[in-house]
Amino acid sequence: GRVAVAMGGTSAEREVSLDSGRNVLAALKARGVDAHAIDGIPALLDALRAGHFARVFNILHGRGGEDGVLQGALQSLGVPYTGSGVLGSALTMDKVRTKQVWIALGLPTPKFVAFRRGEDIRAAIAAIGLPAIVKPSHEGSSVGISRVRSEADLATAVELAARYDGELLVEQLIEGDELTVGVLDGEALPSIRIVPKGGFYDYHAKYVAEDTQYLCPGLEGKAEADVRALALRAFQAAGAGGWGRVDVMRDRDGRLFLLEVNTTPGMTGHSLVPKAARAVGIDFETLCWRILETSFR
Ligand code: DAL
Ligand code: MG
Repeated sequence: GRVAVAMGGTSAEREVSLDSGRNVLAALKARGVDAHAIDGIPALLDALRAGHFARVFNILHGRGGEDGVLQGALQSLGVPYTGSGVLGSALTMDKVRTKQVWIALGLPTPKFVAFRRGEDIRAAIAAIGLPAIVKPSHEGSSVGISRVRSEADLATAVELAARYDGELLVEQLIEGDELTVGVLDGEALPSIRIVPKGGFYDYHAKYVAEDTQYLCPGLEGKAEADVRALALRAFQAAGAGGWGRVDVMRDRDGRLFLLEVNTTPGMTGHSLVPKAARAVGIDFETLCWRILETSFR
């Protein structure tokens, strides 16, 4: 049947999603799939109610598409879709509650304090210490995230994050290597170690800069096996399924810390899951096909 490639939408990651979506659409078509781009949830639901599509390849990033809302609607309509279900999508879009689940299970994640927009966070900072990272709880692509190295930077960081979300977190900054592990069909792909030129893997380093370096596999031997195993446990613990990506930090002593799970990771030319897949011989078209297969459950 026909496949709707759901992309775009209204989140802060709209442009990233359109870029991902165009790549996915081209790959599926090259594989002979009768695939069509649909921009945003209202248009998607209209098309589904009209019976135009048999399944959905979801490549919406951020709130509204990656957070369980769409997944619930699709489930109600009885339309199969790629990736995580309602619970895994909703939980992992919430960084604060994802970390609480990991902590309850004894999985490592940087210490943090959650707070609401407008709350006084000086006590939170005192508990975490500096340097720290201030993040909106429900965003992606590093939107609204800042590093805070001195108290003087704090107000600006909080103001920026609060533009995107009513719930924020201040998290201990782990100095060391930034790693990410793609998950496809219950298996971890090789890790990628990200070496951004400016030292901070922010929106610019993710999607614009051409000098961000990616090493894959990111680690060797037991260290590589450990990060893959941890990422897979963290993914499953958060209720995620199908495919996704787990972001991890490794400090200078080799200790691992889980940052977050992405249930519809980027599929842009700069994105990480396609790089990790390529390292094990899965080309982009095959990757898209394998992701589409996650909707056959
Ligand atoms: N949130 C972006 C799309 C990613 O995780 O790749
Ligand atoms: Mg993310």
